[in-house]
Amino acid sequence: MITEVGKFLKYCCVLVVIAITLNACYYDKADSIYPDITTTTCDTVNITYSNQVSGIINANCNNCHASALANSIGGGINLGTYTAMKPYITNGSFLNSILHNGQAAPMPKNASKLSSCNILVIQTWINKGALNN
Ligand code: HEC
Repeated sequence: MITEVGKFLKYCCVLVVIAITLNACYYDKADSIYPDITTTTCDTVNITYSNQVSGIINANCNNCHASALANSIGGGINLGTYTAMKPYITNGSFLNSILHNGQAAPMPKNASKLSSCNILVIQTWINKGALNN
């Protein structure tokens, strides 16, 4: 009888050790499987209008909002130059539109949201004063 209880306890100990080991493995691997995308791949240092922001707008917005197209297919909103786009930064509609937060028409129109890195770059530029730099 004593030996049966002993075997049972031993069995339990082995199970506990296995559970702890597997758990440790899971957490070790989680760090490498889910790295923090924001800090590892999105460079938000030295953001300027000419180096990053205008490129993002050209690639994602100016097929409708370029100066020559704004009135026909861009809803009258010209994002073709810094001077033309600045009012939409100031009134918040630019940021609201790319955040898809319900406070402005979601942009880019009929397309998926900008990448989280592109949004972060634009937010960083706005937070630093949205300069024509
Ligand atoms: C396929 C064409 C198209 C693209 C691409 C596009 N827009 Fe628009 N945008 C429009 C139209 C049309 C409107 C007028 C409102 C509407 O029809 O939804 C508009 C409206 C806006 C407005 C005013 C929103 C409001 O509610 O006041 C802003 C700001 C804006 N766009 C910014 C952007 C930005 C930033 C991008 C790129 C990330 C972009 N748009 C890409 C067509 C486009």
